[in-house]
Amino acid sequence: MNLFKMKSEIISFPTFESAFKELPIGKGDLVVTIREIYDAFLTPFTGECKVLFVGDYGLGEPTDSMMDAMLKDIGDYTYHRVISIGGGSVIDISKIFVLKDITTAQAAFEQSIPIIKDKELFIFPATCGTGSEVTNISIAFLEKKNVKMGLANDAILADKAILVAQALEGLPFKPYACSAIDALIHALESYLSPKANIYTEIFSKQAIEMILKVFVKLAKEGPEARFAHLEEMLIASNMAGIAFGNAGVGAVHAMSYPLGGNYHVPHGEANYQFLVAVFNAYTRKNPDGKIKDLNLYVAKLLDVPVEELYTCLSAILSQLVVKQPLKDYGMKEEEIETFADSVIATQQRLLANNYVELSRDEIRDIYKEVYY
Ligand SMILES: [Fe+2]
Repeated sequence: MNLFKMKSEIISFPTFESAFKELPIGKGDLVVTIREIYDAFLTPFTGECKVLFVGDYGLGEPTDSMMDAMLKDIGDYTYHRVISIGGGSVIDISKIFVLKDITTAQAAFEQSIPIIKDKELFIFPATCGTGSEVTNISIAFLEKKNVKMGLANDAILADKAILVAQALEGLPFKPYACSAIDALIHALESYLSPKANIYTEIFSKQAIEMILKVFVKLAKEGPEARFAHLEEMLIASNMAGIAFGNAGVGAVHAMSYPLGGNYHVPHGEANYQFLVAVFNAYTRKNPDGKIKDLNLYVAKLLDVPVEELYTCLSAILSQLVVKQPLKDYGMKEEEIETFADSVIATQQRLLANNYVELSRDEIRDIYKEVYY
């Protein structure tokens, strides 16, 4: 039984200047980023690199067309290293540029070419949630096939995951909060996954503790308090990524995909809408299993009686991201049924990581609970 793997080296620097002093970049590097980060931090260091801005190719989640247009612009530039600096979309896109003989994104995602890595990959996360800098997954929407596909292969793991706290300085509060809640959910879901073990649990628990500590502070002192804790949040998000890269995430993520995909709700915000309802359903179905330990652990961190845990957690998280009925996102009532069907049909990979099995009707009931 495979317990734990961690192939990426993890390095931390306070600033980009200190990072690039130790790890200089230049000719032969392909930098993939967004303009805001480039203008704020990168211009002194990227003179001889080829730089691609994801925003020039499209907005929102990565698509095959965006990746293909970027491949075209890379043209015959010879590069031996991909330097990815950004949030989840930038990182997902960058990962495929390390592949040997890549012609189109579709070929990579369908694995019709051999998935062989022939470039180094350095990832600098610029949000504090995806954990993508330490996972072997890239997800894209293949427009030509009208399907969202994931490529999960160790060939697209980062050689170095480089945590630069300065990268979060320009991140506005909402994406900060959404990504940090996503990280918390990675830690909580991976802790309960049947694939969890003592190695992954250490990372899940440490991430939960660090994230909640900052959240309690933000709830008391307001959004500006985040700036004193950027490094902790980046590390906590990375730890949660290590935990879920090994143990997986479950129903919260599975149920949020139809909402996020159809109504363009940010990933962390969409996840948050389901967190409490899914965990309450878990607690009802098997109150004396591992969730009992988790609930006690989190209640102790928040210094509340365990019976009040989810009310207290909701109160804290609601100060960071608005929780609203799904109908307020425009979701139609009949989609309570169709979303439940689509989760069963397409998300079995994630549902396998649930704490307890949830039937189609139980999933439907959770949608119903958070719809109105
Ligand atoms: Fe996530």
